[in-house]
Order: sequence, then structure tokens, then C-alpha cells
Amino acid sequence: MSDYKNLSLTLITSEVKPGSIRWRSPSNIALVKYWGKHGVQLPRNPSVSFTLDGAATDTTLSYSVREVAGEGIDVVLHLDGELNEGFTERTKRFFKELLPIYPFLKQLSFKIKTSNSFPHSAGIASSASGMSALALCLVSLEEELFEPFKDRSEFNAKASYLARLGSGSACRSIYGGAAVWGTLAALKGSSDEFAVPVSESLHRVFQDYHDDILLISKSEKLVSSRAGHSLMDGNPYATARYAQATRRTDEMLTVLRQGKVERFGEILESEALTLHALMMSSYPPYILIRPNTLTVIERIHQYREDTGLPLYFTLDAGPNLHLLYPSSIATEVKKFIREQLLYFCEDNMYLADRVGKGPERLDVSE
Ligand code: PMV
Repeated sequence: MSDYKNLSLTLITSEVKPGSIRWRSPSNIALVKYWGKHGVQLPRNPSVSFTLDGAATDTTLSYSVREVAGEGIDVVLHLDGELNEGFTERTKRFFKELLPIYPFLKQLSFKIKTSNSFPHSAGIASSASGMSALALCLVSLEEELFEPFKDRSEFNAKASYLARLGSGSACRSIYGGAAVWGTLAALKGSSDEFAVPVSESLHRVFQDYHDDILLISKSEKLVSSRAGHSLMDGNPYATARYAQATRRTDEMLTVLRQGKVERFGEILESEALTLHALMMSSYPPYILIRPNTLTVIERIHQYREDTGLPLYFTLDAGPNLHLLYPSSIATEVKKFIREQLLYFCEDNMYLADRVGKGPERLDVSE
């Protein structure tokens, strides 16, 4: 177990010039879900996800030496050009937790400018893209202030580790294609502390798989993921669920390698329904899907029966549906969405996305 604690990462401040670092990092959609955690953001079971392409956060981290050294963290965060006090506080807490790893964080002043490619009120969680973008900025900052990493995979492992501390599932967004988070006996190098890429073994059919996100409701959800994870501690099905997720992650890796879209879809849908069944069987129970979520699920099942096309859905911890399908059937599926499903979406909205190549470091002046 590595904890990256390093008290020697302090600066001789007279030598530090101000600078900025910018990363764009995507969101991800879990195929096998992480639900339940322990310790410091450690997962109760392994999970595997596709990294998305369009849904992303663009973050610029600007730093300068702090004029008056203080104990706390000096950071302000602007979301879409406006000061955001909630995110500023969350970032302060995050940086404070990182002090044993990055003691230099309290020697600098930070200004963060961040924006999402998807509408703020779309009911899409931005924590995976947001926290991974910020973690990548921090690891690039470490490289600028201290030494470069030996190789890209060490850089990524540390970025993934830091992203995990910010928001569990964010650790999988560091890699393009697909990523696994959690120790899996069959996957060498896998860990509970950071995610690892599995894109090299991704069958061609999955490399540009589509994910259209149907916005059933854009309202803020009633129970946060944080609360949901902790309710798993008293869930009577928890032990069986963690074992099932481990088996399914294993099988999903085989499916992803072999390109079996039907088996992929079976596991995908069962994972979505299991996640929500776990919520309904928690104490106190809660329901995040909406009547229109179920209507659309029925329509998808009917569509599959009628056409034989491999269109399957998954859900996050909310009512919105992700429709996953191969690019070869995109024309038919888009027509189906427009003609039969958009009616059930708030403001008739959906976001068309697909599997992406992962985060990108951008030029600050762009
Ligand atoms: O990373 P968190 O704490 O927001 O939890 C995310 C949980 C799910 O999105 C429901 C599943 C997953 O593995 O991403």
C-alpha cells in the first residue's frame, strides 16, 4: 500500500514563479458499479467503467507564492466565470486532506477556473470529471515544482489516487477507453487505491461505443452518493452484492475483450437495477428512479424484442438513463430516441456521448 505521504515536498518560495496548468478531464459511466466504501475512500468491490468523450470538465489551476503564510489553504474557485462558494469550500477541504502528500499546498495561493461541457443543471454528476481534472492539475504542478515522474503510468497512478480521495469514481476518469478500480485477482497491478487502464484489451466494437444520456429529471437528487454509500453498511444484501460485483467485473473484462455485446448488455442492465434495488433495500429505503425512468426501460426492452438490436441501458445514482450501443446501429437508435423516448425527458433533452480517449492537457492560453 502506497500512501504517497511525502513531507519533503516543500518549496523554497523565493524560487517559485507564478504559473497556470490546465486539464480537460471526462466523466465516466460505470458498467459494474462501485456502491459501498470503507476507510479513506476505499471501495467495497471492484468496478469497471467506460470513460466518456463529450461530458468533461475544463479546469485551470493558477498558483503563486502566498504573500502571507497561513495555516489554512488559500484557494478560490470560479465555476463558469462566477465565484462558487460551495466548490471553493469543497476544494479547501480536499487540499487540506492532501497536505500530508503535498505539504507545499499551504505555501501557495490558488485560483481555479472551471467549467463543464454539459449544462450545470442537467442533473449529471460533475464530481468524476471535476475531481479528476483537479487531480491532474495537481500532479502536473508537482512535476513543475519538483521532479518529473519516471513515466506516464506513475503520473497517472498518482493522479488517479488523488482523484479517488476527492470523489471515488473520479479515479477511473484518468484513463481513456475503460478503467478498473479495485483489486481483482486476475488483473495484475489492480488496486483499491487507484484505477488502472484496461483499454488495450478493449474489443474494436467497444472502442467507440455510444452512450446517449437521457435527462429524465434535472432536479438535484434527494440522497447524495456519500449518504448512499454509507447506507450500504447496514444493507442486509451487502456481502452477497460485493461478491457479485467482483465476479461481474471479472466477467465484464472478458466480455470487453471478446466483443460480446449481448452479454455486455445483460450485465449492464442487471448492474443498474441491482444498484437501485440496493437503495430500495437500505434503511431508510429510498427511490431515485422516476416513473419515466421505468417507462423508458420498458420501451427499450420492447425495442430490443422488436428489432433484435443490442441497445441496453444503465443508470447512475439518479433517474437519468444512459443508453449504450455500438456505432453500427447509431442511425436507428437516434431515430428511436427522437421519436419514442425524448417525450419522457425533461425539456426533451438528451446528451449524445461515446467512449473517449481520456484526459487532455491543454494550453493555458487557448
Ligand atoms: O464516486 P461517487 O462517490 O460519486 O459514487 C459513484 C457511484 C456510482 O456512480 C453509482 C457508481 C460508480 O461506480 O460510478
